[in-house]
Amino acid sequence: MHYGADYNPEQWPEEIWPDDVARMREAGVTMVSLGIFSWARIQPREGEFDFAWLDRVIDLLHEGGIAVDLATATASPPPWASAAYPELLPQDENGSVYWPGSRQQFAPSSPVYRRLAGELVTAIAARYAQHPAVVMWHVNNEYGCHLNMDYSDAARDAFRRWLADRYGDIDALNVAWGTNFWAQRYQAFDEVFPPRKAPYSLNPGQVLDYHRFTSDMLLECYLMERDLIRAAGATQPITTNFMGAFKPANYEQWAPHLDLISDDCYPDPNDPESFRAAAFQRDLVRSFKPDVPWYLMEQATNALNWRPSNAPKAPGQMAALSAQAIGRGADGILFFQWRQSRAGAEKFHSAMLPHAGTDTRTWREVTALGADLAKLPQLPVGGRDARVAIVFDWENWWAVEASDHPMNGLDYVAVVQRWYRALHRRHVQVDLVPAARVDDRYALVIAPLLGLVREEDAAALTSFVGGGGHLLAGPYTDVVDEADRFRVGGFLTQLGEAFGVRLEDFGALVAPDAPSSTPGEREARFGGAAIIESVGTLLAEEIHVTDAAVEASFIGGRRDGDPALTVRRTGDGTARYLATVPDERGVQAVVDHVLADAGVEPVVAGLPEHIEAARRGSLLTLVNHGGAAAEPVEVPVTGTDAITGETVERVRLGAYDWAFVLSADEGR
Ligand code: GAL
Repeated sequence: MHYGADYNPEQWPEEIWPDDVARMREAGVTMVSLGIFSWARIQPREGEFDFAWLDRVIDLLHEGGIAVDLATATASPPPWASAAYPELLPQDENGSVYWPGSRQQFAPSSPVYRRLAGELVTAIAARYAQHPAVVMWHVNNEYGCHLNMDYSDAARDAFRRWLADRYGDIDALNVAWGTNFWAQRYQAFDEVFPPRKAPYSLNPGQVLDYHRFTSDMLLECYLMERDLIRAAGATQPITTNFMGAFKPANYEQWAPHLDLISDDCYPDPNDPESFRAAAFQRDLVRSFKPDVPWYLMEQATNALNWRPSNAPKAPGQMAALSAQAIGRGADGILFFQWRQSRAGAEKFHSAMLPHAGTDTRTWREVTALGADLAKLPQLPVGGRDARVAIVFDWENWWAVEASDHPMNGLDYVAVVQRWYRALHRRHVQVDLVPAARVDDRYALVIAPLLGLVREEDAAALTSFVGGGGHLLAGPYTDVVDEADRFRVGGFLTQLGEAFGVRLEDFGALVAPDAPSSTPGEREARFGGAAIIESVGTLLAEEIHVTDAAVEASFIGGRRDGDPALTVRRTGDGTARYLATVPDERGVQAVVDHVLADAGVEPVVAGLPEHIEAARRGSLLTLVNHGGAAAEPVEVPVTGTDAITGETVERVRLGAYDWAFVLSADEGR
């Protein structure tokens, strides 16, 4: 278990460094991420490197027993680079340049940025590949974080090459993008531009490909650096820090190229439910590489600087969220950053060592957590405990949030998280995977908004149901192909048979959605027959049952009396189609219904909703996220406390308390 932070020693006089190392030891720090924003210090001019200071700080850390996660420093090019090569600066869709003065001002596809970054990484890797302090490599930093999409001329040229590679000849692109529409037919790849600002709606195929291209350009930068590090003979694991469900980068495709997944997560203390969003993020990153523990590479000890209002974390909340991450697979708990900055845009951002010093709540909580984590035994990897999966798919995210849909402005992650929260409230362990990774390990799979269905997705879901699995999907399922075109033959062309349903129309609802009948009217009409009573949101699709039973119907509105939820049973399996996105209450009711049908058990039964329970092999994690207002809870659970080594029969959880219990039967 590693404990530590980003360390930015160049922001401090060298006399402070020995004190840093001493304090790190006091706090239980075992590893720091070093040099993330050090390009200007390491390379003051092109062709000139200054490693003397970095040598000294790495040696100091090493002598102090602190391991180094060495950054490649390419995340923020120095001023000389943008002055000499302005063509490396990125641009927005209007052609406005993102100028220097902040960070991340580089176009990922810029040949000159890549050359300069490559020279820097080559020099750093040559110098430190064999250094005993270096235990991990931290490539760049949060690729794409501020600059989601780049529309520069470098991107234009790279996009043309990327398209030529993908399509081979221009006619294949014309077919994929449907360019006979609006006179968009291309004669050559050199006629294609990025989807820059245009008079009206852009070609959806072009926009979807631009998302793929953007993710690929960022990934190419990562791969270039990774290969240079390996070429220098480095054998340590290589990572780059993810940001959970981050739209510009398709991490599902990136994950195989990382030795270890690391993730940055900043839940908002102003939001009492943000712990569920954090749990979602942990489960997503664990699901990328279930057989390897991941690292929480950045979180805040206390307040941030970048939200409109930056509330402090409540006492104990930082450790509770750290325990949550460990319970959901993390083997590293790290922060941004070690020592709070004196200057710069992040000087109000909390750190392990606050500007106000060590007589602070933050410091006491930081040292207490460090001491606890140091007592942990080697934890099981876990990663394969979930019997429920939610389908999460970047290409669907990109496609469904594009313009010109029945329901514009739809928020893909918000819909997926509505389903996740309902499972989390029931203490059910969940993986988040693309449809093609669904297999019979799962008893229940929920596929919200799976509009873009590839053949392998349809095959995996069909065989899952055939093998006795329980599938719940819809609305807006199986609508388009990989190029975002309708398939011939209507909708649900691949999965309609499994659901026993035909989809005729989408029936967008006007927000805000409101109930169109009173409870009295519903009771009079349906008596006790209704299993779900909720307001549909976003869509109320017109579906026709061809070979399924109706489990719930729309009441009121234009679909009054029509099927809302259907089920087709085949052997042990079920395929349910839901023609709307129910509100929070309705999603909970549907989840309860399908969990019961699939026979899925909670990690721990009978817990209140603010108590989190997570399973990691033989490790059970319990966390009370309820805050000071919530009643303490006693949970009967037998095993060994992983920190104290004592036998426990019950756990008492006050506000933000947490416990790690290793089950006796499975051993440690
Ligand atoms: C992250 C970034 C860090 C720091 C932090 C502040 O996005 O990687 O360098 O800026 O946010 O919360």
